[in-house]
Amino acid sequence: MSSCFSDGLLIRLASAHTVVAFTGAGMSAESGVPTFRGNDGIWKNFKPEELADLNAFLRNPALVWEWYLARKKIISEVQPNPGHYDLAEIENRFPSFAVVTQNIDNLHRRAGSTRVHELHGNIERNYCMKCGALHSNAEIFAHAVVPKCRTCGGLVRPDVVWFGEPLPMDEWDGAVRVMESADVVLSVGTSGVVYPASELPVRARRAGAYLVEINTDTTELTDRMDEVVRAPCSGALVELADNLKAGRIA
Ligand code: OAD
Repeated sequence: MSSCFSDGLLIRLASAHTVVAFTGAGMSAESGVPTFRGNDGIWKNFKPEELADLNAFLRNPALVWEWYLARKKIISEVQPNPGHYDLAEIENRFPSFAVVTQNIDNLHRRAGSTRVHELHGNIERNYCMKCGALHSNAEIFAHAVVPKCRTCGGLVRPDVVWFGEPLPMDEWDGAVRVMESADVVLSVGTSGVVYPASELPVRARRAGAYLVEINTDTTELTDRMDEVVRAPCSGALVELADNLKAGRIA
């Protein structure tokens, strides 16, 4: 069976201790979640500084909430694609396997991945900016346009990272640890332009990882890669999982 992956990668995977999938919006594109950049990207039609920004939220919470409610709805209606399921399935085939994701859509967990570092938050969670109380999406959907905290009346926001905000420390630290101990990193469906997440594959490589890009297009990270697979991620990941299952990597 011919493979879109090199023999070199398959041999490395056979002896790999730690494998990491570093994922971006392209991972969920085949589930129907729009990406951010490119011709049909979200940031082609919307301005991030008006929607994914704390000052914009404080200025006009109704507008930002309207946009996030629309995104929550899209995401609640989509399903993980075969690529998500295959990453979940291959996790047990290595002594250590993790997903480090920039995606907020929760699709890796819904597909069954158990070790997921979410660098940019999770759209299924919400919290009160005053007292920190957590609010479920069900509560948010049942609420007025601008949800207020049931406990203290404070403004509730989605638990996602906005531009200019620091990444959640525990997620970042966990991601750095696993990326810097990785033997192989699969960089899947990310343009690699958003810092500091984009630093992680570079740090992994410096620490000795073999980097593989799976993307339909060239990215900011392409030049740093040891191997590039120009293909939609679900097909490529299904092929990788099939190789593992058939014992071609064992
Ligand atoms: P982008 O929209 O910047 O990039 C998506 C990448 O996926 C591009 O490189 C596409 O070529 C690729 N792609 C699209 N469909 C694909 C498919 N079916 N198979 C493989 N590749 C495909 O998304 P991210 O890199 O995730 O941040 O963007 C990073 C961050 O920018 C996001 O987390 C978000 C955004 O602003 C925050 O919200 C903080």
